[in-house]
Amino acid sequence: MEIIHVSAECYPVAKAGGLGDVVGALPKYQCKAGHFAKVVMPMYRTKFLYNNEWVVDYKGHAYLGEYHFEFTIIKEKTNKLGFDLYLVDINGLLDREKIYGYGDDPQRFIAFQIAVLTWFSSWQHQPDVIHVHDYHAGLIPFMMKNCFVFRKLAFVKTVLTIHNAQYQGNIGWDKYHYLPAFDDFKWGDLDWKNDINPLASAIKCAWKVTTVSQSYMNELRYKSNGLEALFEYEKGKCQGILNGIDNEVWNPATDPYLDYNFTVKGVAAGKKKNKKKICEEYGLDETLPLFVFIGRLVGEKAADILPGAFKNVLYHQHGKACYMVLGSGEKNVENELFNITSDNKGYYNTYIGYDEALSHKLYAAADFLLMPSRVEPCGLNQMYAMRYGTVPVVRSTGGLIDTVTDMGNWEGFGIRFNNATVDDIAHSIWRAIEVYKSKPQMDAMRKRMMQIDHSWESMVEAYTNVY
Ligand code: ADP
Ligand code: GLC
Repeated sequence: MEIIHVSAECYPVAKAGGLGDVVGALPKYQCKAGHFAKVVMPMYRTKFLYNNEWVVDYKGHAYLGEYHFEFTIIKEKTNKLGFDLYLVDINGLLDREKIYGYGDDPQRFIAFQIAVLTWFSSWQHQPDVIHVHDYHAGLIPFMMKNCFVFRKLAFVKTVLTIHNAQYQGNIGWDKYHYLPAFDDFKWGDLDWKNDINPLASAIKCAWKVTTVSQSYMNELRYKSNGLEALFEYEKGKCQGILNGIDNEVWNPATDPYLDYNFTVKGVAAGKKKNKKKICEEYGLDETLPLFVFIGRLVGEKAADILPGAFKNVLYHQHGKACYMVLGSGEKNVENELFNITSDNKGYYNTYIGYDEALSHKLYAAADFLLMPSRVEPCGLNQMYAMRYGTVPVVRSTGGLIDTVTDMGNWEGFGIRFNNATVDDIAHSIWRAIEVYKSKPQMDAMRKRMMQIDHSWESMVEAYTNVY
């Protein structure tokens, strides 16, 4: 099958979170399975753009409301990622340093989607599936079905994958003229609660809808930031498919970011060396269990309660563990997390910012990974952690339920708790510190986790069945 993924992120071209990881990996493994998968994304000003060679594939023009724009589709020359990668260059709109966070993001992503469909419409043939990811590509199914200029694409199958239903991309109806003309009576396909809602529109218009774990799919019907009734209504075409991880990128035996590579057999010694290095660098006590948090510092990740939780354990469990935070996001949380550093030298440190290399080093060095998420559609961190022999300490929600079994259960390999509260986090950390005292138990858990198969190879077929 020819499958075209349309996304705002794709690792290693541009990544803000797990969406990038998934779109950078799934197509590669689809190609390995014999499909012809491709990725189309905006051309941002990223390192990857400057460090690779490109050929122009198509030049076109289109309208965003009254605004006429020209665009260019460029293709990476060498199939470096294991699939064909196309970038959409729209001068002045997409070619910026960051992926998101600009006042004109709605215009940017709508123009991107219009350019993509204008390009598809110029093809002699039609792809088998257009697979859109999250709300940034969410207007595509509607436009394919209903916009006159894209009529040619009206019967091409579309699949929406929801990586995060918190972000829906709502815009006011005053902006509806950004879209190419469509039959007025189809407005209901765009609307949700008196806004144009790209995610809701994609749920209505895509032929199939998937989300990144079964438990999250179940949760969406009673907690999805206002879309509950829609998920209930559309449940017949919705399905949960757990994300995989790219075992070629995330392999402690070969990971080029690590100072010391290791395998299942040598996990205890390997992790010890990596931990020593990190602890030296960040002034932490290497003889104590090391907890890390890696992620976006936002409410969904319960980042707002992390400062309180760390203060609590640094006080009540003083000298029994150390902690390291790698993250960026809400400024007040960043500041609060950073401010704890000075009073807790030797036991706590932060790196506020985004650092891919450091994340790999931390998965390898840590004993425990903390994920108190309020909402976690799938979560990749816990799977990376497990692959690197790090015990996940997670809140029971979404994909964390589907991937982590509490150590209290038969052959369990992680720690789960129910509430995103300081008390539950502190209690779980206490449990972790206790289990850390038993070297054989830690070793057994590490080995068990590292051998769990979360590879994309095993998930590709589930998508093929959806298509
Ligand atoms: P989400 O997509 O909701 O942020 P996931 O667990 O699916 O959560 O994926 C997060 C991805 O982003 C992982 O690859 C994680 O290592 C990475 N990541 C998050 N924050 C940072 C950071 N500050 N520095 C480096 N990598 C980060
Ligand atoms: C989202 C979710 C995360 C998921 C990722 C990849 O950003 O928050 O849980 O793992 O997408 O699907």
